[in-house]
Amino acid sequence: NAISLLCSDVTTVVVSEFSDAVLPCSLSTKENLQGKHFNWTKDYNVEVFFYNASVYPHNSHPGFEKPLKERVFHFPEQLTLGNASIRIEFVKLEDAGNYTCVISRLQAKEERSTIRLVVEPILRDRSLEVPGALVKPFARILDSSVDGVLLRCEVHGAVIKPTVRWLDGNGNILPTMEPTVDERGGRYFVYLLIAVQKTYDDYYCCEATQEEINHRVYDDVSVPEQMFESCPGVFVWIAVWFSGVLSLAAVLSVVACTKCIVKRVRKGEFKGF
Ligand SMILES: *[C@@H]1O[C@H](CO)[C@@H](O)[C@H](O)[C@H]1NC(C)=O
Ligand SMILES: *[C@@H]1O[C@H](CO)[C@@H](O)[C@H](O)[C@H]1NC(C)=O
Ligand SMILES: *[C@@H]1O[C@H](CO)[C@@H](O)[C@H](O)[C@H]1NC(C)=O
Ligand SMILES: *[C@@H]1O[C@H](CO)[C@@H](O)[C@H](O)[C@H]1NC(C)=O
Repeated sequence: NAISLLCSDVTTVVVSEFSDAVLPCSLSTKENLQGKHFNWTKDYNVEVFFYNASVYPHNSHPGFEKPLKERVFHFPEQLTLGNASIRIEFVKLEDAGNYTCVISRLQAKEERSTIRLVVEPILRDRSLEVPGALVKPFARILDSSVDGVLLRCEVHGAVIKPTVRWLDGNGNILPTMEPTVDERGGRYFVYLLIAVQKTYDDYYCCEATQEEINHRVYDDVSVPEQMFESCPGVFVWIAVWFSGVLSLAAVLSVVACTKCIVKRVRKGEFKGF
């Protein structure tokens, strides 16, 4: 007979990990499937979905693969249109494979089609799943100076060489020098410095990525506001001014303080002179 599936060739569906995938399977005749049954099998042996009009609600068949059971749904409103597609929610990497859809029809031979599901990994914390994944980097406050506050991101003994970056509170990548990378006994020690100025939140995030295993972890640090106020205070400057002793030391301290004074004037804190 002339009935064929719309998806009779192997169709490839590509989705990102943790998104939803629709695996298409429909009768071109748009024949009502409500009185029929269809099933989906993964890699030719694992039952994924089972629709039997007689035992609706469906998918309560024993022997369904546990990881997929709670995440596979059909489209009930599409059944009358001959549509046996399914949706897999929150797709995992291990869901990738070949799915076969079989539609049984009383008066004609069954129809089957195969959908290849490809799952693209996202960068995320895989430290509990992948041996050798870095557990976390360490974000530390080292020092404060007139140039701002010095932060260091440290990775201790990673098995796979990570790339390390600093981000601000909005997730923007911050410019830094190249990191220092030491390799000792096949393990990587990475240090990345950054000097930061006062911002609205003073929140910084150190990000370490092991691209080969799609792994990314973070550590964060909040810089206490007083760390940005570490140059000699304005009153020292005033004292020097009024003492009339404009020694070289005083000139230097004036230079060193300019940033702080400018900042305080901007903030409306400094009303002197
Ligand atoms: C799917 O349905 C077809 C047709 O009814 C049947 O032959 C096959 O055994 C079923 N597969 C599974 C895994 O139940
Ligand atoms: C559908 O369910 C009915 C009632 O339980 C059963 O008799 C029939 O064999 C089922 N069909 C399939 C293909 O499993
Ligand atoms: C079957 O239903 C799904 C979900 O609504 C839809 O994405 C797909 O396009 C439908 N297929 C056809 C052939 O209409
Ligand atoms: C799925 O089928 C393709 C060919 O269509 C094959 O290359 C691939 O290895 C199969 N995947 C699995 C998991 O069986």
